[in-house]
Amino acid sequence: MTESILKYQRFIEEKLAEFELPDSPKNLYEPIQYFLNIGGKRMRPVITLMACEMFNDDYSSATEAALAIELFHNFSLIHDDIMDNAPLRRNQMTIHEKWNENIGILSGDALLIESYKKLATYSPDLLVQLLPLFNDTASLVCEGQQLDMDYESADNVSIDNYLEMIQNKTAVLLACSLKMGALIGGAELNTADKLYGFGLNLGLAFQLQDDILDVYADQNKFGKQIGGDIIANKKTYLLLSAFEAASSAQKEELVRLLNETDTGAKIKGVMDLYAALNIQEKTFSKMNSYYNVAMENLNAIDCPDEKK
Ligand code: IPE
Ligand code: IPE
Ligand code: MG
Ligand code: MG
Ligand code: MG
Repeated sequence: MTESILKYQRFIEEKLAEFELPDSPKNLYEPIQYFLNIGGKRMRPVITLMACEMFNDDYSSATEAALAIELFHNFSLIHDDIMDNAPLRRNQMTIHEKWNENIGILSGDALLIESYKKLATYSPDLLVQLLPLFNDTASLVCEGQQLDMDYESADNVSIDNYLEMIQNKTAVLLACSLKMGALIGGAELNTADKLYGFGLNLGLAFQLQDDILDVYADQNKFGKQIGGDIIANKKTYLLLSAFEAASSAQKEELVRLLNETDTGAKIKGVMDLYAALNIQEKTFSKMNSYYNVAMENLNAIDCPDEKK
């Protein structure tokens, strides 16, 4: 299993290394090259190739779609880092830190266009299916991102609001990665839609894990600033379930911490409450429940077991 993931990862790394951009303007293209070179798990393009291979031995036909997805993902991260005021990504400086925000905005835009150029290489009979899917996904990602930002300053966010927000900002892109791979591999629309459903549940589990790691990871392994979500008052599953489980005194303390300006004290105070309320375990169990549903979705797909 791990070995096969490595095979696809290497394949994507090779294709990304062949991806060429003009030399100038340097301040437009250098940041893109930098961002693509600092790594990343390449999870989305890997699952595009895997989904294609479920239905067709030649997964290379999904290469351009896999690249389109990875470029889109990187574009979204460049802008997300500006929006989240994030200093670190993949253990390196974010683009707006290394250059500046304007450069982050425009190099992100240019990368989004490169992503569409990859997708545009498909023949009209496939493009007519892939393009609306990609467009709808991209719109949903923007909607999820806006809700994520709006919720920072909202005090009436429910867990259902949160789940809808992460479905849009994160899960639909994983779902789209799988469905595009399946369609390119020649799957029936209804089978491709089942993979989409699997991707949604996988994506929800993935974002819950990202939210846990934002608080509890080893910064070197995570590659991002620890505690960023707490500092920004992100309405994560952790924070919302802490509010839900808190006594009235603990609720007051949480509200006070949301307005705390000493970031060290804020992170420590919130983490102490999370520990008192078993929030890490609760979030982990929610993540596992989505993961289990995802596995049921995958098992229900009509395809030889070894391909799954
Ligand atoms: C980060 O995605 C953004 C989220 C949806 C949490 P990844 O964790 O896949 O980021 P990279 O590409 O591996 O750096
Ligand atoms: C990112 O969510 C989702 C998108 C980029 C669309 P996060 O803000 O949680 O991602 P990280 O933690 O910065 O990677
Ligand atoms: Mg964000
Ligand atoms: Mg972020
Ligand atoms: Mg995060």
